[in-house]
Amino acid sequence: MTPWLAVVLVVVLFSGGLFGYDQGVISGALHGIKATFSLSALLVEVVTSWVTLGALLGALAAGELADRIGRKRTVLIAGVMFTLGAVVQALAPGTLVLVVGRLIIGAGVGVAAVAAPLYAAELAPAAVRGRFVSAYQLAITAGIFLAYLVDGWLSGNDSWRIMLGAAAVPGLLLFAVALAAPRSPRWLMMKSRRTDAAAELRKIHPGEDVEPQLDAIGAALRHESERASWAVVFHREWRRPLLIGVGLAVFQQITGINAIIYYADQIFASAGFATQSAQTTATTWAIGGVNVLATLIAIAFIDRLGRRKLLLAGLTGMAISLVVVGTAFRFIVAPAAGATATGPSAAGIVTLLALVGFIICFAFSMGPVVWTVINEIFPGHIRGRAVAVATAVNWGSAFLVSQFFLTLIGAMGNSLTFWLFALFCVITWVWIYFRVPETKGLSLEQIQLLWKAAP
Ligand code: BGC
Repeated sequence: MTPWLAVVLVVVLFSGGLFGYDQGVISGALHGIKATFSLSALLVEVVTSWVTLGALLGALAAGELADRIGRKRTVLIAGVMFTLGAVVQALAPGTLVLVVGRLIIGAGVGVAAVAAPLYAAELAPAAVRGRFVSAYQLAITAGIFLAYLVDGWLSGNDSWRIMLGAAAVPGLLLFAVALAAPRSPRWLMMKSRRTDAAAELRKIHPGEDVEPQLDAIGAALRHESERASWAVVFHREWRRPLLIGVGLAVFQQITGINAIIYYADQIFASAGFATQSAQTTATTWAIGGVNVLATLIAIAFIDRLGRRKLLLAGLTGMAISLVVVGTAFRFIVAPAAGATATGPSAAGIVTLLALVGFIICFAFSMGPVVWTVINEIFPGHIRGRAVAVATAVNWGSAFLVSQFFLTLIGAMGNSLTFWLFALFCVITWVWIYFRVPETKGLSLEQIQLLWKAAP
């Protein structure tokens, strides 16, 4: 890997890491925040979920920004927002300022979630593009894991300020590294700046003849205006990739990942893990740690086996695991009132193992592969905004699933809820089998031809 590609990778890793950390840290911080500000139930929800709201808005704005001012500058803006949001939250004298800080951090997460993988997909050589975008997912999972660990280490009513404020440091580092990083040659070509694009490409691939690549990028852009209007994003011509991108974004969420990430403690509690520390340990290692390790499988195989094989294999495993979780809950009996639970039952252990199975299967498929495909299927002139739409839809779906998960459990019980997620895995499997083409090894320009060939 050339040094400049390594810089690109660092930008991607920091963006993903901050995304994961800021998403994962709140569950542990909430306890102290409640003690400091004596929040109402409504405010607890606002403090928790407005990051998602900010992310949704940030993602939409980032599409415009990434097309207008470039991928690299958009990442710089995300770095500023991560830092500013972290500082505002850490110093918040009251709830209002805290909520403003949550919104700023959320917007930063949304901006980074669009700009960083887009940047990675445009700068990585085709043969390793899947790995580059999967590295972004690896960083998300590492961020979530780190947040779980920090939540476990720090206690005390004011420690939430450190938990939330700590993100300022990597935020600043992201800014500094992105400042030095190369600009996207594909974006420069979109702006008709061929000389600049050539210079950046030569930096990234020293000693290579970059002219053929520039010609290919230029040819793909030729019939397209520099920056198409929103109407073009939704035009019939690009309906297929748009449906694939948005479909994958929705399916990634409604197959249940964040219900498990956010509510793991509670799931383990109902599976018989009686003490808070037993639940936290199970969540940190069985969910957080396994999620990081299993993402490495995707990095190893995504560019060799391809996107489809990983997706289909992963979804099969996710469906089976969810059926097992749902079935195990049939055998879990809540301890009688007043009785002390003695620890997880056999069914509780099966639940734990099946959840680990689910996380492994998600981590090598629907996690990294969805982001990879979303960032490679769109033609250059609509890429920024189309990726933004898919990302915003992903955040919207995450918001809905996390809002309604507990309600669903209350209404239908644990078993049916997990079986419902399993059913969504099956539907996703069938849809991918018939609708999502293989994009492994193709350049971004060759991928566009897929949509022309099969209307
Ligand atoms: C998803 C997140 C999820 C994370 C878990 C990401 O790909 O977009 O919603 O929390 O994976 O690892």
